[in-house]
This record gives sequence, C-alpha cells and structure tokens, in this order.
Amino acid sequence: MAQPAQSPSQATMPRHVAIIMDGNGRWAKQRARPRTFGHAEGVEALRRTVEAAGELGVAYLTVFGFSTENWRRPAEEVNALFDLLRLYVARDLDKLVREGVRVRVIGAREGLQRDIALIIEDAEARTKNNSKLNLTIAFNYGGQDEIVRAARRAATDVAAGKLQASDIDHKIFESYLDTEELPAADLLIRTSGEFRLSNFMLWQSAYAELVFLDVLWPDFGKEALTEAITIFRARERRYGGSAPDPA
Ligand code: FPP
Repeated sequence: MAQPAQSPSQATMPRHVAIIMDGNGRWAKQRARPRTFGHAEGVEALRRTVEAAGELGVAYLTVFGFSTENWRRPAEEVNALFDLLRLYVARDLDKLVREGVRVRVIGAREGLQRDIALIIEDAEARTKNNSKLNLTIAFNYGGQDEIVRAARRAATDVAAGKLQASDIDHKIFESYLDTEELPAADLLIRTSGEFRLSNFMLWQSAYAELVFLDVLWPDFGKEALTEAITIFRARERRYGGSAPDPA
C-alpha cells in the first residue's frame, strides 16, 4: 500500500474513496418503516454510488457493508443484511463483470455461511481480470480484527521460519492485511452526521481526508459523492510534512 504520490499542491481526484454507509435505520424510521427497509434502500444507494464512482473516475471504492460488531443486532436484521448481499450479487454481478468492475470482499471469512463464502469467491473470481473500478465490500469486517488476523498470520510465518521478525516493517505488515492489493484510502466519507470511524479501515485511513456528510445513506448518490470529492479537492494534504511554500 504505497503512500499516494501526489504532492500537496496537486489537489487532485481521490484514487481510493472509502465510505461508511450510515443512517439506513434512521431513514426508515423517518418513514415509519422497519430498519430492513432502510437497508434495502441502502443497496439502491450503493448501486447509484458504484455507477457514479465509475463516471467520476474513482479507481477504488470501498464500502462498509457489515461490521464484526453488527452481529450484536437482532437476528432478523443480521439475516436481512446477509440476504441483501446475496441479492446485490445475484442482481448486479453480470453487470459488474460487463462494466469492468473488479469486486473484492474484505473481512473475516470464518463465521460466514457457506453459501455466502461461495458467492464471494465467485464474484471475486469472475471479476478478477477487471480494472476499471475496484469495488471492495467490507463484510464481517472490523479494522482491529483485520490487524489482529494479519499479526497472527505474520507470527505463524515467523514460527514456520518463512519470515524474520526483524524484517517486519510497514510494507511487509501491509501485505498481511485484507487490503494487500489496495492503495491507502485518500478520502473517507461517513454519512448520517456521525463523527466516528467505527473500526473501519483503521490502518488504511492513516492519512485519509475525513468527510462527514449530513445525508442519510439511502439518500446518497452522485450528487453527495461529488460534494465529498469537491471538499477533498479543496483540502491540502501534507502527510505529516510541513505546508508547501506559498507560490
Ligand atoms: C448503517 O445504518 C448501515 C449498515 C449497518 C449496513 C450498510 C448496509 C447497506 C447499505 C446495505 C447492504 C449492502 C450490502 C452490500 C450488504 P444503520 O442501520 O446503523 O443506521 P442508523 O444509524 O440510522 O440506525
């Protein structure tokens, strides 16, 4: 996961946009509908956003679909979220294949139902040669869990003599993360007016610009994505360095 190459003065398009899709429950509540209705509308927002990301030239889009903490929700809601992943892939995979979208799913595979694991493997395999837009769905994902799993795998390799503990640096450690093939996040958006990372992309967001929008996820689409990108482009990124000299 290379450090983005652009200099601070080149406030350009974000290469990797990560989104915490929040507010489905409140959106449904405002309409006196069940939370699951909000999640279903959330899938429509996701479809619009994937389309918009492609149109706007975003190369990597990563979305938070189900967190390791979401298991604490009522079983009915958890099942609905799993059903929505099934439905989304069943309905959209052919189109994603055709349109050059590469699909990846990050998060723990353990604990997922067998059919979900197979759906994920199929979606990843069928899109593996695509490169127009990299869509990554974080599912059964937690940033701390990802880091712990990476540490465990690295430790296993050290114990097996495949890796020297003293050789572990940022780059090697990143190769054990679920996001091994993805660049660092440039722009992290959270909808619904909440100001938290909620365990999303903790490592990958080290230098991301954070944009919090006061829009509930089911209302998200090209307009809101464009707004977030406009905010991003007006920011000056320094990656821990000093401000550039005035021109
Ligand atoms: C947060 O809203 C959203 C989620 C927990 C799940 C996000 C899921 C989707 C957008 C649809 C499913 C998509 C896939 C690919 C499975 P919330 O329920 O926390 O809303 P609230 O904070 O208003 O209650």
